[in-house]
Amino acid sequence: MQDKLIQIRDDAQNELKRAASDAQLEQIRVKYLGRKGLLTGILRQMANVSPEERPVIGQLANQIKQQINNELSQRQQQLKTQADKGDKLDVTLPGRRIKIGKRHPITQIIKEISDIFLNLGFQIAQGPEVEWEYYNFEALNIPADHPARDMHDTFYITDNILLRTHTSPVQIRVMEKISPPIRIIAPGKAYRCDADLTHTPMFHQIEGLLVDEHTNFAQLKGILEIFIHRMFGEKTSLRFRPSFFPFTEPSAEIDIACVMCSGKGCRVCSHTGWLEILGAGMVDPAVFENVGYDPEKYVGFAFGMGIERIAMLKYGIDDIRLFFENDIRFLNQF
Ligand code: FA5
Repeated sequence: MQDKLIQIRDDAQNELKRAASDAQLEQIRVKYLGRKGLLTGILRQMANVSPEERPVIGQLANQIKQQINNELSQRQQQLKTQADKGDKLDVTLPGRRIKIGKRHPITQIIKEISDIFLNLGFQIAQGPEVEWEYYNFEALNIPADHPARDMHDTFYITDNILLRTHTSPVQIRVMEKISPPIRIIAPGKAYRCDADLTHTPMFHQIEGLLVDEHTNFAQLKGILEIFIHRMFGEKTSLRFRPSFFPFTEPSAEIDIACVMCSGKGCRVCSHTGWLEILGAGMVDPAVFENVGYDPEKYVGFAFGMGIERIAMLKYGIDDIRLFFENDIRFLNQF
């Protein structure tokens, strides 16, 4: 009988520990101390116990009854304090989902573009965002009085240090360090004092540079065609339009058939059917001279594109600022 009593006490204690509401505590009270409860049942059997054992068992039973009563009130108090603090735990609720972060859409596009060029044998190069004026302009054949500088709305830090306005200075840094053959892309941030629906003061570009002894414009066209088809779909038409960059000659801007209207003409493409996505050209011999390459021996091509622009076209986004507002409802869609 003593063993039974001890067992009842242990069971009651375990259940009390797990109880999470007043209703459960009441169930435990009824189960052990109620009129038909387990402990009460034992006390009723006292008549069958030998007279010598009776006082011992009686005392133990009363002790246990007292103990269960005390622990019941303690647990009740504990639950009340928890509820007052607001950290009530409902163990029946489903667990909280862990929110796993995702890559920002711009990072996704950079990776997508980089993967295409890595597959074509290009390697990734990087350069500083705080740059010497020399690398950003002069070495790229844009001297101080050149009108192209006005188009770059530059953030100057000192007279000859600035925030790079494009990723093209990485071309110079790479060519100063290594000899051809060169086949690199340089993704990164660029800065211009510029802000509207399609321009932000900080944006991203990817630069490409290939230099070798027998490079030609047809290869540039082939590489960009592969890139555009992989990025926007095999059926996307493209066209090369003559253009001007001081560091490439000849230069071109590359348009793709409007992704919204497939070239029929709409508001997005200003009813032309075409959207500009890239600047490119053959490296100007003056640039080779600046880095100590022999322009008679080497030929190269370079290209550069705005990442936000590519992302906007690919996802049909009409306001560039959405990329930088960090609104989780926008970011969740990617
Ligand atoms: C250049 O920056 C050249 N360095 C590209 C180049 C490289 C040409 C190599 C030839 C050879 P441009 O100034 O057009 O070119 O800028 C390229 C792209 O950057 C633009 O088409 C646009 O998509 C993006 N861009 C320029 N300014 C901003 C801005 N403020 N916000 C967002 N994107 C911008």
